[in-house]
Amino acid sequence: MKPSQPQPQPLFHLFFLLLAATAAVSSSSSSPLDPKQLKALKTLTTAKDPCDSNNHSSSTTITCDDASPFRHVTSLSFSTSSSLSLPSKTLKPLSTSLLSLSFLNCPSLSPPKHLPISLRSFTAVSSFHRHGLSGVYLARLVNLTHLTISSVPVSASGLYVVLGNMRNVTSLTISSSNLPGKIPKTFHSNLTHIDLSNNILTGSLRPSSITLLTDLKLLNLSRNSLSGEIPNKIGDLASLQNLSLAYNRFSGPIPSSVSSLSRLTHLDLSGNQLNGVVPSFFSRMESLRHLNLADNSFQGVLPFNESFIKQLEFFQVRGNSGLCYNNTVLSWKLNLGVAPCDKYGLPLSSPPQKEEEDSTLSEEDEEEEEDYGDGDKKEEKHESNKIVLGVAIGLSSLVFLIVFLILLAKWSVLSK
Ligand SMILES: *[C@@H]1O[C@H](CO)[C@@H](O)[C@H](O)[C@H]1NC(C)=O
Ligand SMILES: *[C@@H]1O[C@H](CO)[C@@H](O)[C@H](O)[C@H]1NC(C)=O
Ligand SMILES: *[C@@H]1O[C@H](CO)[C@@H](O)[C@H](O)[C@H]1NC(C)=O
Ligand SMILES: *[C@@H]1O[C@H](CO)[C@@H](O)[C@H](O)[C@H]1NC(C)=O
Ligand SMILES: *[C@@H]1O[C@H](CO)[C@@H](O)[C@H](O)[C@H]1NC(C)=O
Ligand SMILES: *[C@@H]1O[C@H](CO)[C@@H](O)[C@H](O)[C@H]1NC(C)=O
Ligand SMILES: *[C@@H]1O[C@H](CO)[C@@H](O)[C@H](O)[C@H]1NC(C)=O
Ligand SMILES: *[C@@H]1O[C@H](CO)[C@@H](O)[C@H](O)[C@H]1NC(C)=O
Repeated sequence: MKPSQPQPQPLFHLFFLLLAATAAVSSSSSSPLDPKQLKALKTLTTAKDPCDSNNHSSSTTITCDDASPFRHVTSLSFSTSSSLSLPSKTLKPLSTSLLSLSFLNCPSLSPPKHLPISLRSFTAVSSFHRHGLSGVYLARLVNLTHLTISSVPVSASGLYVVLGNMRNVTSLTISSSNLPGKIPKTFHSNLTHIDLSNNILTGSLRPSSITLLTDLKLLNLSRNSLSGEIPNKIGDLASLQNLSLAYNRFSGPIPSSVSSLSRLTHLDLSGNQLNGVVPSFFSRMESLRHLNLADNSFQGVLPFNESFIKQLEFFQVRGNSGLCYNNTVLSWKLNLGVAPCDKYGLPLSSPPQKEEEDSTLSEEDEEEEEDYGDGDKKEEKHESNKIVLGVAIGLSSLVFLIVFLILLAKWSVLSK
């Protein structure tokens, strides 16, 4: 009988067996790792079969495909490794198959000289603190779908340098990276996540920047220096779930189109110079769970009832000196950090110089007024100030008591 499969060359067979023996650890796939890649990985790991090394003490995680006759490395992840380096010699044999590369908490590592341009996913978090990453270096990765950079300095004159030819990016994070420049005129791809938080971006959010982003679920531009009005086009982001424009210099009103963001769960507009009234449509946005409007210049009567506020997981409006609540609708117990309204819909207790009735202010209200501008942090500071004062009084009383006792003892010795 003829064998159903062609017989491999004896020499090749031997070689194959040898490799299988090196990869002795039980494997879900019967194929061994490509010998060239196995050799390259020698500098990174001592595991006999890197594809299946389930080694948690190791700082390198390797995953492979299931191809035959040889498997190939598809993803490589480094974490908390301070001494490891990734030489080009290692990376090159992997570059034909590597789709994902990540560095987590490798601050003293240098970035590899050349990244495989076929990468689909690149992640660097709290790494490369000495060298950082350059925009030009990243821009070569034209096939990326996921770019995640956080707490890694990025040197580029703007985001346009990085994104130049990356037409396939769906998830873009460059956060806490000292990135300057403006938001690009357009994002030319099917982005679902944009997180550019905590950089030094300036300029405005132009309507053209966000027109095409109908798949966008997350837009986080918090902690930059963006200014101007929030464009009405924001209402076109039909898939948007999380929106944060917090701690910028946005001004003007909340555009009415926000009411059409039916999937919005998180909205954070705190720490800007937004003004006008707080729109009542928020209470009709059924997905909304987290609403932060603190530290702005909103005015007038808060248009919400207690059942709406209580159904939210997070709600904050403090730090808006012109805002007040109707105390026949809302209880002071909600501790909203804004004053109750008078019959004209103006805040009863602020600004203090305007009205005489202010002398009836409770201590709590006064504190909240001072809070205006900095929200929670100042409140914490107030608390700690109180504690410090208490401790100081306690200590000085103790010192006084000791001195008194010493004097008393001396006096009693002397008088003997
Ligand atoms: C796990 O990783 C450590 C450190 O990298 C290494 O010394 C050890 O030999 C590895 N264990 C196995 C079973 O591969
Ligand atoms: C990008 O991906 C496409 C499709 O998989 C491939 O044809 C192309 O060669 C890749 N480009 C680079 C620079 O790797
Ligand atoms: C964007 O998505 C559309 C539809 O989902 C698709 O036809 C198009 O090829 C995508 N574009 C890119 C650059 O991936
Ligand atoms: C990137 O998008 C282009 C179309 O704009 C497509 O030809 C190419 O195959 C995509 N690359 C990958 C890796 O999907
Ligand atoms: C936006 O980014 C900031 C800082 O990186 C983070 O604290 C916040 O949770 C993010 N917000 C959303 C809605 O993703
Ligand atoms: C929105 O933010 C919340 C809290 O930070 C998070 O749990 C959720 O996954 C985010 N949603 C998206 C689409 O990123
Ligand atoms: C609170 O406001 C919501 C939305 O405006 C409304 O549907 C609900 O009936 C109100 N609840 C009460 C108790 O007034
Ligand atoms: C407060 O609410 C009551 C009852 O809904 C209403 O009659 C009154 O006009 C409101 N006051 C202000 C200042 O809006």
